[in-house]
Amino acid sequence: MRSILLSSIFLLIFSGSCLAILDAFTDGLDLGGYSLPRSVNNYELHDSCLIELRKQMNLEKHASLVYKQMAFHFGSVKMARPGFSKIFEHHSTEEHEHSNKFIKYIDLRGATIGSFNITMPHKTSWSKALEAVEDAIELEHLVTNEIIRIHRIAEKTCKDVHLMNFLENDFIEEQISSINKLMKLATLLRSVGCNDGGYGEYLIDRDFFNGKLSLDEL
Ligand SMILES: *[C@@H]1O[C@H](CO)[C@@H](O)[C@H](O)[C@H]1NC(C)=O
Ligand SMILES: [Fe+2]
Repeated sequence: MRSILLSSIFLLIFSGSCLAILDAFTDGLDLGGYSLPRSVNNYELHDSCLIELRKQMNLEKHASLVYKQMAFHFGSVKMARPGFSKIFEHHSTEEHEHSNKFIKYIDLRGATIGSFNITMPHKTSWSKALEAVEDAIELEHLVTNEIIRIHRIAEKTCKDVHLMNFLENDFIEEQISSINKLMKLATLLRSVGCNDGGYGEYLIDRDFFNGKLSLDEL
C-alpha cells in the first residue's frame, strides 16, 4: 500500500516535470500555426538552392533531348547506325530519369517546381559517331560542373546537409563514371580509325546493336 502511494507520488512528479520540459521545448515555437523561425527550420529549401535545383531539373531534361536528337539521327536513313542509336536512346532515358529525380527532390522538401524552362537542342546532325561522343563528353562535363557548383552553394549558402548528401549519392558518383565510359568510347573510336566514320565505326555499331559491347563494360 505504501509503495503504491510512493510510486503514484513519483509518477505525479515525473509527469509534471515532463510537461515542464515539453513547455520549454515548445516555448517560442508556434506549433499550432506551424510556423518556425527560419533559423530552426532545416526542412524548407533555401531560396538560392531551390532556384539552382529548378535550373538543374531543366538542364537534365535538356540533356535528355540532346541524346534523343542523337538517337534519332544515328537511327535514321541518313546514318543507319542502330547500335549508336541504341546507346544514345539509353542515355536519353537516363537523363529523363535524372530530371525526374530533381522534381521528386523538390517535392520532398515541400517546394514547387515552377514552370519548365528547357533549352532545346541546337544541333540536329553529326557526320560521325565520334563527333557525337565528343559532344556528349562536353555535355556531361557541363552537367557535372553544375552539380558540383550546386553542392558548393548547398554547403556555403544554404547550409543544407540533406541536399549535399542527395547530390553526392545520386549524381556525382554517376557523372564521374559516365564521363569515364564516354572517354573510353571516344578512344576506341579514334583507335580503330573512325575519324571519318567508315568500317571501324560500322563494326563497333554492330557490336553495340548485338549487345556484344556495352558502355558498362568499357
Ligand atoms: C529560362 O532559362 C534561361 C536560360 O537559363 C534564362 O535566361 C531565362 O531567364 C529563363 N526564363 C524564365 C522565365 O525563367
Ligand atoms: Fe544527368
